[in-house]
Amino acid sequence: MTIEETTVTFDELTSGLAIERDRRNDWRRTAVVYQIYPRSFADSNGDGIGDLPGITRRLPALADLGVDAIWLSPFYRSPQADAGYDVADYRDVDPVFGTLADFDAMLQRAHDLGLRLIVDLVPNHSSDEHAWFRQALAGAPGSAERDRYIFRDGRGEHGELPPNNWQSVFGGPAWTRTLDPDGTPGQWYLHLFDAKQPDWNWENPEVRAEFLDVLRFWLDRGVDGFRVDVAHSLIKAPGLPDQQASEDEGADDTEGYFHTGPMWDQDGVHEVYREWRALLDTYSPARILCAEAWVPSLSRLARYVRPDEMHQAFNFDYLESEWDAAHLRSVIDSSTAANDEVGAPTTWVLSNHDVVRHVSRLGLPAGPRPNGIRAGDPQPDHQLGLRRARAATLLMLALPGSAYLYQGEELGLPDHTSLDDDLRQDPTWRRSGHTEAGRDGCRVPLPWEADEPGLGFGPGGATWLPQPAAYRELARDRQEDVDGSTLEMYRSALALRRAFALAVGDLSGLDAKAGVLRLRNGELTVVANTGVTPVPMPDGELLMASAELPQGGMLPPDTTVWLLTEAWSE
Ligand code: NOJ
Ligand code: CA
Repeated sequence: MTIEETTVTFDELTSGLAIERDRRNDWRRTAVVYQIYPRSFADSNGDGIGDLPGITRRLPALADLGVDAIWLSPFYRSPQADAGYDVADYRDVDPVFGTLADFDAMLQRAHDLGLRLIVDLVPNHSSDEHAWFRQALAGAPGSAERDRYIFRDGRGEHGELPPNNWQSVFGGPAWTRTLDPDGTPGQWYLHLFDAKQPDWNWENPEVRAEFLDVLRFWLDRGVDGFRVDVAHSLIKAPGLPDQQASEDEGADDTEGYFHTGPMWDQDGVHEVYREWRALLDTYSPARILCAEAWVPSLSRLARYVRPDEMHQAFNFDYLESEWDAAHLRSVIDSSTAANDEVGAPTTWVLSNHDVVRHVSRLGLPAGPRPNGIRAGDPQPDHQLGLRRARAATLLMLALPGSAYLYQGEELGLPDHTSLDDDLRQDPTWRRSGHTEAGRDGCRVPLPWEADEPGLGFGPGGATWLPQPAAYRELARDRQEDVDGSTLEMYRSALALRRAFALAVGDLSGLDAKAGVLRLRNGELTVVANTGVTPVPMPDGELLMASAELPQGGMLPPDTTVWLLTEAWSE
């Protein structure tokens, strides 16, 4: 190779640098995304259920908080058997949430406020009330209508046993038997979740084409992208073999999401996402795909965010981490390394609509993460949980990449941990034979104004789940402009994250000793004390603290600080 051939011109070099800078600053690598759970965000018409006009009215509060984007959990037409994750029509808004016109108005308002909007897409299953499932039930075994879903004959002499041993994530068998038109028992259909959520057959080209069309429908309306529900389950192993007992080993969480087996994380799913990515790449401005994939290792997760697939995947290892410096260090280190390997940003998340809120979780003794907390269960220590949650959040918001916030965490909300069992709506409660509380406790309507009926959730004060007494003091208006409130901590942290470009910063000096986690991001030194004794703080200008600091330069337990320091100081 001659010298001429390797010479890069000044223009080439600067345009190359500009491309690299644009890539690093791409919102799909840096955004703080706020999750709205529509039933519980804000109600506009007094029926006690949140809706799209309610969201539109409250959007300025999110712009004011300083987030970059919103992820909206499902609002599609649905019988609400799994709070909207059972979609009957992917191209329409459920009347309980409003209309397509309400959706357009909400999207426009979000964009006017500089907020991007990511919608939830549920491709693994539909509702049993979807037109195609009704046609499948009416169709004969082996018909084209049935082939859009996963129907099989049962085992046993009369087909009376399910086709295989798969269990539903919500408890009980993953198969339900149908009745033929003459009333005799017929074939079985697969549902990895509730019986009202039949799994699509992703081997069927018609299903693939249909979803590409659904993507186009929302992209053409102007949405900024999709959060993809159970992205790791679309393809099942050929022949639908029984799940082996050994495949459940290592599942260390109570929700069973990390199980391996013939229904999870099959290589074929990646082909689907490559096709979706190619479609998204034809749209401008840039659109995002984010995977919800509870796969058992960070290296398997990184496969979902290879350059021609999705842009991001939720980092559930971070959410699952104990409040322990060594554990956190290891998760930060390994998730960053796994994503670097494929050139993807790392994401961070502590709460969502499927898990006990981190205020409550971190107020429990270390141990397996519970699937909901009931009145008779050991109760979290709220003050300890709040203190740790604030420290964990401040640590999270100092990390490069994207962060996901779940509505209400900016208020320091705990779960409702003494909800009347009769009010539970999560199908998990019923399907587990009333052994697992499920996720209602983290889905309670938000408190906006302490002195309004229903804490300002909507006119008249109705709320589809009761709000716990603790929510009054935590209402947004009680925290606004109040020094030291959780809301103000989030607001300041988000402003500083932006000012110091932390999302694109270089992480260095990651270290955990004696319960203290330290790291540097650009000019910032971050110290989190997860231990039980105060430790000395490095010298530097204090930018943020998750709790009040005593005189004398010591960092108390369960506290995180951001400091401006010249360089790394021991
Ligand atoms: C994951 C969603 O986050 C959860 O709420 C839902 O129940 C399941 N997927 C099934 O769609
Ligand atoms: Ca409503």
